[in-house]
Amino acid sequence: MDSKISVKNLDMAYGGYVVMEGISFDVQRGEVFLIIGRSGCGKSTLLKYLLGLKHAGNGKIFYDGVDANELINGDDFYGRKIGVLYQGGALWSSMTLAENVALPLETYTDLSSREIKELVDLKLALVGLKNFEDFYPAQISGGMKKRAGLARAMALDPEILFFDEPSAGLDPVSARRLDDLILELKDGLGITIIAVTHELASIFAIGTRAMYLDVETKTATAIGAPKELLASSRDKNVVAFLSRGTKTPALTSEERRMLLNNPTEFD
Ligand SMILES: Nc1ncnc2c1ncn2[C@@H]1O[C@H](COP(=O)(O)OP(=O)(O)O)[C@@H](O)[C@H]1O
Ligand SMILES: [Mg+2]
Repeated sequence: MDSKISVKNLDMAYGGYVVMEGISFDVQRGEVFLIIGRSGCGKSTLLKYLLGLKHAGNGKIFYDGVDANELINGDDFYGRKIGVLYQGGALWSSMTLAENVALPLETYTDLSSREIKELVDLKLALVGLKNFEDFYPAQISGGMKKRAGLARAMALDPEILFFDEPSAGLDPVSARRLDDLILELKDGLGITIIAVTHELASIFAIGTRAMYLDVETKTATAIGAPKELLASSRDKNVVAFLSRGTKTPALTSEERRMLLNNPTEFD
């Protein structure tokens, strides 16, 4: 098997509040695996489990075949092998871009300050931010913040990169640019990428495969190449999602009644 990550029968919950049940999937080495679904279905929650921030009660998560429960106590696995780009970029506002990118290198390596500077320059150049080393986050655009966050996530040459809503809040051109960058990282460096997104353009542009988390049934109802899911999934919710509602089957009388009683259910 060449699964980078393997998830078996994972239940997700906050205390007694169940978010998703019985989630199983494999992420192949070097693919862009998307977690998709409507707001509140549990996408960010699944990232928390994958990142070891929430612990799987039922179910198992394996990285390269190793049980994640053994990694949590292990040698900095999550800090060193995994890079994360959070929604807002999550840069430290009191530090320059160079200082932000240097932080993981200072934390996890014993490289000299000269070596760190060279690596920082390299990572910032990789994301198109050469010459912005000394800028503070407040001085750059939203798209540039995301790219700086990506440079920081890449600092330690991670094997896996996680993105939570990479294009959220970006204008279409910046969003497209970030998508291209994600594909370059996959193709050029062979990084395995897991991204949460509900941006349709991104889903079709970057997704090798996507898994749809269905908020109604609290299960993963579809998994496959986005175009194939749109063309031939039998799940009406995933088809509606991927077609922005244009391929939604006509509402049943029961659904019409629900809609009239509770309009926000169908926002
Ligand atoms: N810290 C938390 N405590 C309790 N419930 C939460 C918490 N975070 C999220 N939730 C709930 O879990 C569900 C899934 O949330 P989330 O994973 O953030 O959804 P998504 O990222 O798909 O929009 C939602 O119903 C949300 O209200
Ligand atoms: Mg979320």
